[in-house]
Amino acid sequence: MISNRPRRNRVSAGVRGLVRETSLAASHLVLPLFVHEGPGAHPIASMPGHARLDVELLVQKSREAFELGVPAVALFPAIADGLKNPRGTESLNASGLLQRAVRALKSALPELVVITDVALDPYSSDGHDGVLVDDRIDNDETVPLLAKMAVAQALAGADVVAPSDMMDGRVGAIRRALDEAGKPDVLICSYSVKYASAFYGPFRDALDSAPRAGDKKTYQMDPANVRECLREVRLDEQEGADWLMVKPGLPYADVVRAVSEISELPVAVYHVSGEYAMLKAAAQNGWMDFDKCLIESLLCLRRAGADIIFTYGAIEAARLLKKA
Ligand code: PBG
Repeated sequence: MISNRPRRNRVSAGVRGLVRETSLAASHLVLPLFVHEGPGAHPIASMPGHARLDVELLVQKSREAFELGVPAVALFPAIADGLKNPRGTESLNASGLLQRAVRALKSALPELVVITDVALDPYSSDGHDGVLVDDRIDNDETVPLLAKMAVAQALAGADVVAPSDMMDGRVGAIRRALDEAGKPDVLICSYSVKYASAFYGPFRDALDSAPRAGDKKTYQMDPANVRECLREVRLDEQEGADWLMVKPGLPYADVVRAVSEISELPVAVYHVSGEYAMLKAAAQNGWMDFDKCLIESLLCLRRAGADIIFTYGAIEAARLLKKA
């Protein structure tokens, strides 16, 4: 006779609901969006359902997400080639594309949490997150530029600035610059543990921001490492980060778990462009069910320990969760 029957806890939807350990809600999600000068929308071939949007369409799309319960968007600008240079100075332009987009969003949707990306790559003629000096990315030349960029974004109205560049010491420099600019309430979401990953491919298509030469392995982490993330996390905590980010998502669930166990700070995870593209491509071939795979992926990231999930599927997920 079998006396121990774990299946009893799965016997009905009601029982399964009572014993469910992890929750997933629209309130956990952040929708990344691409903005361009426009006019209109420019589709991104490798990211079905996403396009570079002009500021007006960006506001529309953000409203759609917000009304479905998604509290936040993360913005990435596609900058015209003519405005790119080695130091990415267009990022500081108070009336540049990104700053205009932030102002438009905050005036149309004041309660939407607007997150901006701090890194040179969309603005850099070299396609790198930092300044290239003699063929290497110069950390200390880059950090003051990042601090100025974060201030420009905060002055435009960004609620959260998210340095994704992986330079050493940038969180502390950004915190000091924000405080000196009279922006002590602007949060820093640090991409603390960002790997040199091939899963960013579709994102780089979207922004036309792939490195012109070389790769990002001297600043982004080696996918082989996990203990190294503890050091990144400790430094970001000391420097004043408000949230910690792990990126990419599913292949790095063990890293999300590790970070959530060592820090009291909220942990965000980025379900990146390549992860979204894989699900879309398989679904378009009739090989997998996009909706189910998306919800399962996001639930697994929550189970791994993520509080906040950046996902290109935020609108789809919010709709599905409403129906469920
Ligand atoms: C660059 C940045 C990247 C992503 C977010 N910020 C790409 C990179 O590091 O090359 C990737 C996001 C995605 O793939 O969805 N600062």
